[in-house]
Amino acid sequence: MNLSTRIVDLRSDTFTKPSEKMWKMLRSLDNSKIGDDVFGEDPTVNALEEKAAKIIGKEAALYVTSGTQGNLVSLLSHTSPGDTILVEELSHIYHHELSGATQIAGLKVKTYSSNMGVPNFDELSNLIEKDKQKDSSIRVICAENTHNYHGGKIIRPNILKDLHKFVEKHELKLHLDGARIFNAAVGLNIPVTDFTKEVDSVMFCLSKGLSCPVGSLVAGSKSFISKARKYRKILGGGMRQAGIIASFGLVALEKNWIQRLEDDHKNAKLLAEGLKNMALPIEVNNPETNIVIISIPKEVRIGKIVRKLGDAGILAFNIDKQRIRFVTHFGIHKDDIEYALQKMKMVLPNLF
Ligand SMILES: Cc1ncc(COP(=O)(O)O)c(C=O)c1O
Repeated sequence: MNLSTRIVDLRSDTFTKPSEKMWKMLRSLDNSKIGDDVFGEDPTVNALEEKAAKIIGKEAALYVTSGTQGNLVSLLSHTSPGDTILVEELSHIYHHELSGATQIAGLKVKTYSSNMGVPNFDELSNLIEKDKQKDSSIRVICAENTHNYHGGKIIRPNILKDLHKFVEKHELKLHLDGARIFNAAVGLNIPVTDFTKEVDSVMFCLSKGLSCPVGSLVAGSKSFISKARKYRKILGGGMRQAGIIASFGLVALEKNWIQRLEDDHKNAKLLAEGLKNMALPIEVNNPETNIVIISIPKEVRIGKIVRKLGDAGILAFNIDKQRIRFVTHFGIHKDDIEYALQKMKMVLPNLF
């Protein structure tokens, strides 16, 4: 393999590493700032949860190990075994969380289709009507914002508002997989609460564009969070002196750090524009946030494209047989994108 020395890693924003300020925060900790979080005695975790709840506009928040654990404790807290949840057909919960909702929460998982993450309310009504004719077990509808497999698409607050009204009418709960909800807020330049006020619970990740090494938060009402805390313990997520890792989150939730996501969005646009200008037989999305997806013709071998780009030092994932995803994030600068485009210009035309 002819590996280039310069690597531009666009596989995911989960590959981000902490900022200088985060390391400084870590070094500023001492034993007075940590404690046993299972007993609610870690001051740093408590501070992070309070800060998160305030920013997200909910009564309480809970620090969890990962986005996957955050979604699962949320679903466990809203349901009982045997209940049904509705998830979007290309959602992370459905495709990448290894059926935790079924295996661990004992839930039936049904999917709804969407237009770039936006549900069709007639379809949802039909699903609920059908369910009522049986044992009426649908309890939760999940949405994902931004939507990963729809190229970081932002589901607008007015859609969430309609969905909110819909779930209230049917006495259900609305859970938001908001792994990248701050990308949505920065992308539209509106407060994150414009989205989160419309949902019963939200999970968001510190470990993606916000570039913490680990951790996510779940937020909702006090009673929801007290249930979620119990389920986190059941899932082995009671982390004792977790302030050591949670401290990074206190920096990540500072206003100017959240605003930094704008740079990722600009870089994604630059990448998408550059790819479009190559006039290849590919489709490129118009990224609203930090995810660029190219769709390639069926007859072209996608594995070869990903491999050849990798040989040139440009790392990406194919998310299915026809689509390759590039994610911009902290640590990727404008000149990395320009370099990646130069390499792509050399590699891609020979593959179509
Ligand atoms: C939309 C979405 N939800 C949830 C998750 C799960 O987060 P984690 O990898 O921390 O479990 C991811 C991870 O990439 C994601 O993209």
